[in-house]
Amino acid sequence: MFWLGIDIGTGGSRALLIDEQGRVRHSYTAPHDDMKMERPMWAEQDPDNWWSAAAAAIRGVLGDAKATGEEIAGVGLSGQMHGLTLLDEADRVIRPALIWCDQRSQAQVDWINSTAGRQMVLDCTANPVLTGFTLPKLLWVRDNEPQNYARVRHVLLPKDYIRFKLTGEYASDVSDASGTAMFDVVRRKWSQALAAKLDIDRTILPYVYESPDVSGRVSECAATATGLKAGTPVVGGAGDQAASAVGNGIVEPGVVSCTIGTSGVVFAHTDKPAYDADGRVHTFCHAVPGAWHVMGVTQGAGLSLQWFRNQLAPGAEYDALTAEAATSAVCSQGLYWLPYLMGERTPHLDAYARGGWVGLTAKHTRADLIRALIEGVSFSQKDCLDIIEQMGVAVESVRVSGGGARSAFWRQMLADVFAKPVVTLETQEGSAYGAALLAMVGTRVYATVPEACRAVVRETERVESRSWEAQQYARGHQVYKALYPALKPIYGLIHNAG
Ligand code: XUL
Repeated sequence: MFWLGIDIGTGGSRALLIDEQGRVRHSYTAPHDDMKMERPMWAEQDPDNWWSAAAAAIRGVLGDAKATGEEIAGVGLSGQMHGLTLLDEADRVIRPALIWCDQRSQAQVDWINSTAGRQMVLDCTANPVLTGFTLPKLLWVRDNEPQNYARVRHVLLPKDYIRFKLTGEYASDVSDASGTAMFDVVRRKWSQALAAKLDIDRTILPYVYESPDVSGRVSECAATATGLKAGTPVVGGAGDQAASAVGNGIVEPGVVSCTIGTSGVVFAHTDKPAYDADGRVHTFCHAVPGAWHVMGVTQGAGLSLQWFRNQLAPGAEYDALTAEAATSAVCSQGLYWLPYLMGERTPHLDAYARGGWVGLTAKHTRADLIRALIEGVSFSQKDCLDIIEQMGVAVESVRVSGGGARSAFWRQMLADVFAKPVVTLETQEGSAYGAALLAMVGTRVYATVPEACRAVVRETERVESRSWEAQQYARGHQVYKALYPALKPIYGLIHNAG
């Protein structure tokens, strides 16, 4: 038998099959259309494009494995978090989804803070409300598109739209619901009090499951579209970061991960809800029942390199770009990259922050530009790690995953910038793998998520930090940290100038 993990990412949907031993047997990715950016800092995708990609990925992986739907014992879902998918009474998508990195809702964040008060938001959801979260996006639609808002009957997160297409259920899981700014993270249920205060109809919110619990079964119609068998159980699953943490074995205290995909995330498990006083890292429910996590997020991590490639090196392979970066020197001859291409979350919580290089001279080469960019993303991840350590989380080593971690050059840089060993795992499939493991727990192959992780997650390579490079990067990080406060007034001017 196989277990199927599905990840609805930003760039594409991935389907992955694991066997009884938790080994990855096949995977298949179907790309999404590029996100639509009608204005700077706006980002939308079409939920039906996610569904056609997810269905193609499922058919693709079954075809590659020469497996039938009968051989799939369970399905787990993961996906990009925070996205707003709106369905009407006939279950039609009302408008394109506002996705995780969309930053248009500062006015709605301000309104929530003045109407409910910052303290009520913290008491109800354990986090400050941010432009990237789902609630202010919903309110943006209420304020700007009342005709669309009037039609809303269901609000779903990206992977939960795929669950709806697979099973007909309107449901989510605790980890993904945590990123909506409507979920009581401490009590693991929707915050009725906040919904009432902000006049949100509670009935539009989905039922919420713990991640390994069965949330529905594949319908006849979805079976025809995907090749799965009708009746196959689909578990709650998790937001991509919590699912990736399961895949990386970050399900008990003491290990921390760094995942560099489109965004970059430093993630730590906690036995109780833990908070940063300034709300610079998120406090969310974990995909492990009864556990929580904290995470710091760089909005434009892999996105920085993707943007560089698309705009300045069309057609180049990422490996060629990192090889070029390796020819430059540590700290890129005094050149610094600010990765704020879609505003920033950790540590600045600033929707108006902008990206860019600082320190250019006529001597700089394209290799310096690329290296500075990778260094800037790594410095930003170091900011996340520093806050998590300041919260008292002991970090002996960091498990790395995601597209960025595939590069040996970037792994060594992370070890040097973090001044900590960086560890890679036998399976680096991240979110889709974690989702498949959750399906194994949901179908009782393993009793608990930590038991599944202990059985299948194995460390392979360990990269040590080098002392000279670590010292240079420590100095570079000080320069990097001084740039945002200096530029903040300029970001305000740019925003006001339109
Ligand atoms: C996490 C976050 C991103 C998205 C896209 O808070 O916004 O990781 O889930 O991957």
